[in-house]
Amino acid sequence: MRNSLHSFHTVISIMKITLSLSPAAQVETECLVAVVLDRAENSDKAKPGRPKNDKPEAFVSASDKAVQQSAADLLSSGDVSGKIFELSWLHKPAGLKGKRLLLVGGGKAKTFSATELRKIAGAAVRALKPRNLRSLAFVVPEQIEAEAAVKAIVEGALIGNFDPDTYKSDRKDQAVESVTVVASGDQKALQQAVEEGRIIGESQNFTRELVNEPSNRMTPTVLAHRAQEMSKEVGLKCEVYGADKIKELKMGAFWGVAQGSDEPPALIIMRYEPAGAPEKPVLGLVGKGITFDTGGISIKPADGMEKMKYDMAGGAAMIGAMRAIAQLKPKLKVIGIVCATENMPSGKAQKPGDIQTAMSGKTIEIINTDAEGRLVLADGLCYARQLGCTHLIDAATLTGAVVVALGYANAGVFASDDDFYNRFKSAIDEAGEKMWRLPLGDEYLDAMRSQIADLQNTGGRWGGASTAAAFLKEFAEETPWIHLDIAGTAWMENEKPWIAKGPSGIAVRSLIEFAREFGNSKKA
Ligand code: BES
Ligand code: MN
Ligand code: ZN
Repeated sequence: MRNSLHSFHTVISIMKITLSLSPAAQVETECLVAVVLDRAENSDKAKPGRPKNDKPEAFVSASDKAVQQSAADLLSSGDVSGKIFELSWLHKPAGLKGKRLLLVGGGKAKTFSATELRKIAGAAVRALKPRNLRSLAFVVPEQIEAEAAVKAIVEGALIGNFDPDTYKSDRKDQAVESVTVVASGDQKALQQAVEEGRIIGESQNFTRELVNEPSNRMTPTVLAHRAQEMSKEVGLKCEVYGADKIKELKMGAFWGVAQGSDEPPALIIMRYEPAGAPEKPVLGLVGKGITFDTGGISIKPADGMEKMKYDMAGGAAMIGAMRAIAQLKPKLKVIGIVCATENMPSGKAQKPGDIQTAMSGKTIEIINTDAEGRLVLADGLCYARQLGCTHLIDAATLTGAVVVALGYANAGVFASDDDFYNRFKSAIDEAGEKMWRLPLGDEYLDAMRSQIADLQNTGGRWGGASTAAAFLKEFAEETPWIHLDIAGTAWMENEKPWIAKGPSGIAVRSLIEFAREFGNSKKA
C-alpha cells in the first residue's frame, strides 16, 4: 500500500458562523454585505426614452432602512445595475457601524430565489478572500423567507470558502474565518437554519476534500478510513470489507475490476438506522469509488488522465450525504454503499473478452475494461437490494457520453420510476443543483447483448450515457432506482464567482434534501 508515507491534508476551514438579530446598521464588522436586486421587468433591453433622473432600477433588499440609505447615492448614480455577481464597495458607509458595505448583485428581483442567494453568498466570500478580509456580516434579503435565506447564505458561504490548493508549499490560508448572518424573526428557528446550512455546506466540502486528493493519497483503503472516521464522529455504523469478503459475496463484476490493482479494494457500508424509523422505506445510496481510472488494459490516452483521480466522486458524494443525514436525523433508514478500487492494467488485470459473473448471477462479457464503473455498481446495487433497500440512488462519474450530451452544466438523471423521479426532482430544485433527465429504456439494452454471455459491458458509440444506465438497470431490477451520471459536473473546469475550480461536490445537497423530504413524508 502506498499511503503510509503521506499525511492527509485538510482544507475544510473552520468557519465560525453566528446569527445576529441586531439591526444591520448596528453590526460591527469588517464588511457588511447586502443584496442588490434589479426591479426592472426586462432590463436586458435598452430603454429608449428613459429619463436620466428616473428612479434607479436597482435597490438594496434589506429591511434596515439605514442600509438602504447608506447605498442611496451610489444607487441613484446609476452605476449599480443589480446584475448577478456585480460587486460594489463602499468604504466607511454613512450611518453603518460596518467598516465597508459590499453590495452584491442578485439579478432580477422577480426571479431571485434561494438558489441565487446561495451563489451570491459564495461570491461575497470569494471576493473577500484575496483582499485578506477575514470576516463579514451578510444581511438577509427581504425577498426570501428568513429561515430559507439564512440556510442558503450559510451553505453558500461555506462552499465559497473552499479552495483546493492543498499541496502548495506557499499556500496562504485566505479563508474567511467568521460569517455573521443578520436576520430578524424567531431566534430558535433561525438558529436551526444556521445549523442545517452548516451541516449541509460542511458535508459538501467534506466530499470535495475527498475528491480533491490525488490517487496516491486517496487509495480505496484511505477512502474507507475517512468514511470510518467520519462515521464515528457523527454516529453512523460503518463496515469496511476487503478482497476476501468481496469474493465471498460473489461480487465477480466488482472483483473483475479490483483484481488488476496492487492496491486492495474496499467495500464501504455506512448505516443510518434511527430509533423509531419505520421498517420501510430503506433508501440505498450507492457510489462509484474508482480512486483512479487508467482504463485498465483498454488504457486511456495520457492526455488528461490525471483527472481520473476524481472517478470516486460518486462514492465521495454518498459519504458526504451520509455525514449530513446522520446529523440532520430524518426519520428513515439509509444505507450508503461505496465500491472502491483502482482500475489498473497489470498481469493480473481482466482483459477484453473475459467473462465475469456478477453477484446477481448475470454473466458479463468485458468488451472494454474502461467501462469499469458499471461493473462495480452492478454489484453495489445488487448488494443494496440484498441488504433490504427499497429505493436506490446511485451516483457515478460514469460516462464521457453524458458530457457530450449535457456539457459541464447539468448532471444526467435516469429514473426507472416517474413518481420517485418527481420526488427527487423537488429535492434537486430545493438544493439548487442542475440536473437533467435523460432517457432509459429496453431499446438501449439491445446494444448491450453479448453472443456468449447475458450482457456485454459496452454498447457501441451512440447514446453512451443511456446504454450505461440501461446496463445498471439490469442490476437495480424492479427496485425503484435513480442513477446520477456526474462525469461532467463533479469537477469544475473553470472557477465561478461562487465556487473554486476543482471538485464541486455535486449531488451531495440534492441527496440530503431528498433524504430529509423522504423521511418526513408519510407516503413512501
Ligand atoms: N470514468 C470514466 C468516465 C469519465 C469520463 C469520467 C470523463 C469523467 C470524465 C468511465 O469509467 C469511462 O471510462 N467510461 C468510458 C466508457 C466506454 C469505454 C464505454 C467512456 O465514457 O469513454
Ligand atoms: Mn473507465
Ligand atoms: Zn471510470
